Amino acid sequence: AVIPVILSGGAGTRLWPLSRELRPKQLLPLLGDDTLLQQTAARLPGRPMVVCNHEHRFIVAEQLREKGIEPRAIVIEPMGRNTAPAVAVAALLAEAEPDSLLLVMPSDHRVKDAQAFRRAVETAIPLAQADHLVTFGIQPTEANTGYGYIKRGSALMEGFAVERFVEKPDRATAEAYLASGEYLWNAGIFLFKADVYLRELERRLPDMVSQCRAALAQGQTDLFFFRLADAPFAAIKGQSIDYAVMEHTEKAAMVPVDMGWSDIGSWSALWQESDRDGDGNVLVGDVMAGDTRNSYIRSERHLVTTLGVEDLIVVATDDSILVAAKSHDQDVKKIVEDLKARG
Ligand code: GDD
Ligand code: MG
Repeated sequence: AVIPVILSGGAGTRLWPLSRELRPKQLLPLLGDDTLLQQTAARLPGRPMVVCNHEHRFIVAEQLREKGIEPRAIVIEPMGRNTAPAVAVAALLAEAEPDSLLLVMPSDHRVKDAQAFRRAVETAIPLAQADHLVTFGIQPTEANTGYGYIKRGSALMEGFAVERFVEKPDRATAEAYLASGEYLWNAGIFLFKADVYLRELERRLPDMVSQCRAALAQGQTDLFFFRLADAPFAAIKGQSIDYAVMEHTEKAAMVPVDMGWSDIGSWSALWQESDRDGDGNVLVGDVMAGDTRNSYIRSERHLVTTLGVEDLIVVATDDSILVAAKSHDQDVKKIVEDLKARG
C-alpha cells in the first residue's frame, strides 16, 4: 500500500503579510476556497499521515475534518527540524507495515492535473519496490535557485536513473543546468520504502535516526495527535531530505511528470497560477481596481482601491499592508527578516 505523508512545517515567508507563523501558506486558501493543505490531501491516493508543528495542530486537524479526510495520524513536532527528520519519523511509524511505500508530499504546492500526478505515482511504484528512492522531475522553465536539480541518467524501468542531485545550486550553476537540457527540477515529492530511506539516512546521519527513534519512543498520544518528545527532537541538527539524503544516495531514481506543478513560492507565482481577469488582474476580497493591469490585489478586510497602476502586488490584512512591484516579490522575505530583527 502507498502511505501518503504530508509535510506541513514550512513558513512561506515570501507570502507575507498573509502567510504568518501561526498561519503559514499551506494553511491558507490561496487558490480557490480550499487551503493548499486541503487540496494536497484531496489529490492523494489514500489516507495521509501528516507531520506538522505543535502550533498548527488544531488548524491542521480542523482543515482535514472539513474535507472529510481522516488522517492515519497527525504527528506533532515540538519545533521545526526541517524535512529529513520529519520524514524519518514517518518512516519509523510506517515500519509497522513492511510492504508499504511512503509517498512524501509537500503541503504547499499546486498541482493542476491530479490525474497526471497519480499516473506518475503508479509509474514510480515498481521503482520504489526495487529499493529506489524515487523523485519526480519537472521540466524546468527558468534558472530558479530555490529548487533541487536532477540530472537524468539512463532509462531505468519506467523512469530514469539519477546521475546527480544538486540542491539549490547558485545562479550560474542553475543557468548552466537549464542550458544543458539534461536537468529537471525536483518536485519535492518522493516515493520509497521506509526502511530504504532510513538506511540511507542512517549511513550519513545515524544520530538523527536514533534521536527520531527516541522522540517516538518517549512521545505520547494526545487526543488524536501523536506528540514527539521534546528533548530528543530538540537535539536533532536540522537538515532537509535533499541535503541529508538525496544529494548523496546512489539509490535515487526519477519519474518525469507534467502535471501543472507550481511551488507558489511568491506573490508573482501566485498571480501567475491564478485565474486573471481581462486586464490581467487577480482581485481577491473587497477590491476595486480602476485602470489597473497585471496586478495581484488582495484584501482581507478593508476596501482596497487602485488607479492607474500596473505590475503591482497589494496585499492588505488586518494589521499590515504590502505594496510591492511584482519584480521585487522575492525580497518580501527580507521584510520578514527585518521585522524579526526589529522585534
Ligand atoms: N513537518 C515538517 N517539519 N515539514 C516541513 C519542515 C519541518 O521542519 N520544514 C519544511 N517542511 C515542509 C514544508 O511545509 C513544505 O511543504 C515541504 O516540507 C518542503 O519544505 P520547503 O522548506 O518548502 O523546501 P524547499 O521548497 O526549500 O525545497 C524543496 O522543495 C523544492 C520544490 O518546491 C526541495 O525538495 C527542493 O529540492 C525542491 O525543488
Ligand atoms: Mg517549498
